[in-house]
Amino acid sequence: MNPSDVIATLVPKSFSPARESATAYAPSNIALAKYWGKRNSTLNLPLTDSLSISLFNKGTTTTVSQSSTQSDYFTLNAQLIDKNTLFYKRLSEFLNLFRPNPHFYFSIQTNNSIPHAAGLASSASGFAALILALNTFFDWHLEDHALSILARLGSGSASRSLWHGFVHWHAGKREDGLDCFAEKLNDTWPELRVGLLIFTEKEKAIPSRDAMKICQETSAFYPLWPSHVEHSVEKLLEAIKTKNFTLLGNTAEQNALAMHATMLTSNPPFLYWQTETLIHIQKIWELRKAGLPLYFTEDAGPNLKLLFPENITEAVRQAFGEVEVITPFKS
Ligand code: PMV
Repeated sequence: MNPSDVIATLVPKSFSPARESATAYAPSNIALAKYWGKRNSTLNLPLTDSLSISLFNKGTTTTVSQSSTQSDYFTLNAQLIDKNTLFYKRLSEFLNLFRPNPHFYFSIQTNNSIPHAAGLASSASGFAALILALNTFFDWHLEDHALSILARLGSGSASRSLWHGFVHWHAGKREDGLDCFAEKLNDTWPELRVGLLIFTEKEKAIPSRDAMKICQETSAFYPLWPSHVEHSVEKLLEAIKTKNFTLLGNTAEQNALAMHATMLTSNPPFLYWQTETLIHIQKIWELRKAGLPLYFTEDAGPNLKLLFPENITEAVRQAFGEVEVITPFKS
């Protein structure tokens, strides 16, 4: 089973542009219980469920139209993307799955309000916005679960970036992955805040898809990971239902640290942390000891995301001058 077989079951057999162009926005998301390891890497099928929170106004806006030249044409934040870059190749390959005919080329304009590849899941919002824009451009009228499956084929975490708020991605069991899609939770949490602590906007040294493979194949701790995540998801669902912030923060932080422990115990070992990462983690732990309900999570990069309730926003700003505070649930 390959991505084109999956797409053939979801997308109409023949289609053509229904309008000149289509634009869509998708928020970035951060996992509170992480996706870290696959059961099928061709279809990006994860080993376990995961659960995320979307970053509301931090995300990607993408416009799709037909290219007037004989090749795809991409811009990222108004800069033309060179054909020899990995970014161009990855996107063009993904678009091969959606060409109405082999001579159809796309023009894709992408604008990110988050740094590219700094462990802030710009590929998640990127592929999600692209699928939403294609759905409108070709008038597919696909349902949410189908859009989530298509986004997942671009990047696993993109399956969770189609909505605001909390999103639960189900691992599923089927080999074709048709039961592997994300769903938005209806619960809201207006007092919840996410703080972005960005130390570097440099591209990460190891892409997350390679990193999770190394961990899955070589880490002595990896066998503990799947059941750890399943528990994290259960605890997060309970924390969200009961609005138990301590349970939410503690579960998310423990889950992130367990994921990073699989990197330290890989062969060869690797670490996304930089000096600033550790300095800030220790500061978070000190503030928590002093009574602040403040937790963090960290993805495949050195930057941290803080989790805290609205009523300590001022204290967080004072402690971390450079923090950008996100309100995931805007009324
Ligand atoms: O979707 P990918 O291949 O970029 O992998 C994302 C991996 C993490 O961000 C580390 C975890 C997650 O669940 O988003």
